[in-house]
Amino acid sequence: LEDGDRCESSVEKSILALFCFKLFVKISLNLLTYFYIVRGNRKEAARISAEFYDYGQRHSSWADRSPLHDAASQGRLLAVRTLIVQGHNVNVLTIDHVTPLHEACLGNHVACARALIEAGANVNASTIDGVSPLFNACSVGSVTCAELLLENGAKPQTLVYQPSPIHEATSKGHYGCVEALVTWGTDVDMDIPHLGTPLYTACVCQELECARKLLREGANVQKGRSLDSPLHAAAEKDCTAVVKLLLDFGADINTRNMEYQRPVDVAPPSSLTEGFLLLYEATPRLLSQMCRQCIRTCVGRDRLHLLAHLPLPNRLQRYLKYQ
Ligand SMILES: *[C@@H]1O[C@H](CO)[C@@H](O)[C@H](O)[C@H]1NC(C)=O
Repeated sequence: LEDGDRCESSVEKSILALFCFKLFVKISLNLLTYFYIVRGNRKEAARISAEFYDYGQRHSSWADRSPLHDAASQGRLLAVRTLIVQGHNVNVLTIDHVTPLHEACLGNHVACARALIEAGANVNASTIDGVSPLFNACSVGSVTCAELLLENGAKPQTLVYQPSPIHEATSKGHYGCVEALVTWGTDVDMDIPHLGTPLYTACVCQELECARKLLREGANVQKGRSLDSPLHAAAEKDCTAVVKLLLDFGADINTRNMEYQRPVDVAPPSSLTEGFLLLYEATPRLLSQMCRQCIRTCVGRDRLHLLAHLPLPNRLQRYLKYQ
């Protein structure tokens, strides 16, 4: 009996020893993890502040993104919805004031953008560089995101010193976005001092379809950047297709820029465009084209959409609308 007791107590002792050992291991592991996290965080904090104060690297600073930013930029709708339900703030900002809605639009993730807007995301949010979600949508050519934002009250155009959605869409050839912006009230002739008008941007970037869209919407064919006309820009780039388009819409070949040069003078010597302009100069204009320009000028930019109501044959209407 005594032997049995002794045996039992030694079993109890070993169980106790094992338990203590396990507890010790657990505590030391926890302590290790704790110090590791603290050290890791210090490093992270130092990195964030270094990036924050180093101006050149500011744009690569994503250290402070929230889970909602990540989910929105990757287009993970379920994750976005879950995070919203869990009570994450939809207007959470990074150091640069980027919102999750900015991210969703940059990734062309319209379902995520919609979920964020329905949960109260600010459609007019602006980063410290003045970039709006609409600018991001136009930058990547996301017509659906742009329309979603505009339908929900986003400003169709920004102040002149902020990045302009219509100039961005034009420079990248996203004419669907240009169309949406103009439909929602962006000024087609919006003039930014260092960029000029959207039409001028289209000519500089040789974006034929955007130039056509802007002109059809009634953009002023003469308005460029300061004294440089769109025709100057197209001639300088030797882009004959855009030059033809501008002339079709009544561009003046005799207008002069700051250096008192005409478009033909800025075209590369003996280029296709120079030859085309010289020939155009020497050729009488078509009466039908002159009539079309005259009628469009009389109707005026803001009433061009009413051309369809004129009692005219379809062919004539299409001609007037450059279709
Ligand atoms: C966005 O800004 C515009 C112009 O400031 C304003 O009219 C519009 O109501 C704003 N939209 C929202 C949803 O706050």
